[in-house]
Amino acid sequence: MTPLKMHGSHILSTGSAIPDICIDNDLLGTILDTSDSWISTRTGIKERNILGRDQSIIDLATIASKKALTKGLLQAEDLDLIIFATSTSNDLFGSASQLQHALGAKQAAAFDITAACSGFVISLIIAHQFIQTNVYNNILIVGADTLSQWVDWSDRTTCILFGDGAGAAILQKNQDNDILSFEINTDGSEAHQLCINHKRNFQQDTKHNNLINIPSNNYYQHLRMNGKEVYKFAVSKVPESIGKCLKQISMNSKDITWLLLHQANQRILETVANKLNIPVEKILSNIQFYGNTSAASIPIALDEAFDAGHICHKDIIAIAGFGAGLTWGSMIIKWHINE
Ligand code: ACO
Repeated sequence: MTPLKMHGSHILSTGSAIPDICIDNDLLGTILDTSDSWISTRTGIKERNILGRDQSIIDLATIASKKALTKGLLQAEDLDLIIFATSTSNDLFGSASQLQHALGAKQAAAFDITAACSGFVISLIIAHQFIQTNVYNNILIVGADTLSQWVDWSDRTTCILFGDGAGAAILQKNQDNDILSFEINTDGSEAHQLCINHKRNFQQDTKHNNLINIPSNNYYQHLRMNGKEVYKFAVSKVPESIGKCLKQISMNSKDITWLLLHQANQRILETVANKLNIPVEKILSNIQFYGNTSAASIPIALDEAFDAGHICHKDIIAIAGFGAGLTWGSMIIKWHINE
């Protein structure tokens, strides 16, 4: 039997989109018992943007995707697959097909991945498998979330953290391979630390002697989080996970040019960097502007850092996502700009 030839994955281009409505900490202080000083010292967040009434998650995802297509000099018809990482789909059956239609990506298969703030990293790893095994050539990976619609805006312990946004990347088959190593993890026993639970209600069916319970008025509750436990989880598991990825390729933290973590809290970013002996100057952070945009945070930061000229050819980037599930995953990539 001929051994399977593995192909390389190349991050061809990126794009991002942020909604127009900006809510800064001072504005939050007028509707909640909070302050700019409390929020910025504990989290690093100064402002966040949220969806307007006439916008949807698909609009944001479409803008981010079109930017990635333009930068990659591709047409929507060139896409073979779309992976849409989101936990805030506007349809319980998934949003990827709506994005496929909005882009006119008629040749592309499309599906959603729900893995909260780890969603983009997990989707990139899935896309990498399809490229390595020669199934697809061009894959669009989108991370988008609109948690503003799922938080309780009277709960100062959660709503101050989150913002809406979308980020996209195109992974392309290539001779060189940008994804050097990766690993993902799940600990379902801690799922209750961060969740948006479905509430089931039933009405008794009197016509059938109460034998049948008919679902009635079901709904999703607001986002609930044990901030302290999520914090402890992130600062212990993320350095360990990045360490494992480095070990797989015989690298160490000195080889890392940029540390790109899910933008959850500036303190988490700095503690993880500290534990890995990575100088804080190597942290890519835009949390002060957007807050925690869940699955969108990593691709937005990647897009902005590349556009700003921070990320250069051959830079080594350690990327890690972490969050609800609890899930966490890391990858080491070597940034590669085609001549
Ligand atoms: N403004 C003012 N006071 C506040 C606020 C606020 N917005 N929120 C909480 N407080 C108060 C609390 O009521 C408490 O008061 P008390 O001492 O009188 O009881 C006090 O501040 C301290 O509250 P803690 O919850 O202990 O604050 P902590 O230092 O833990 O910071 C925070 C909270 C910022 C949420 C932190 O725990 C954290 O960042 N955790 C990680 C969260 C995270 O990253 N989540 C996203 C994961 S990604 C995903 O999957 C979606």
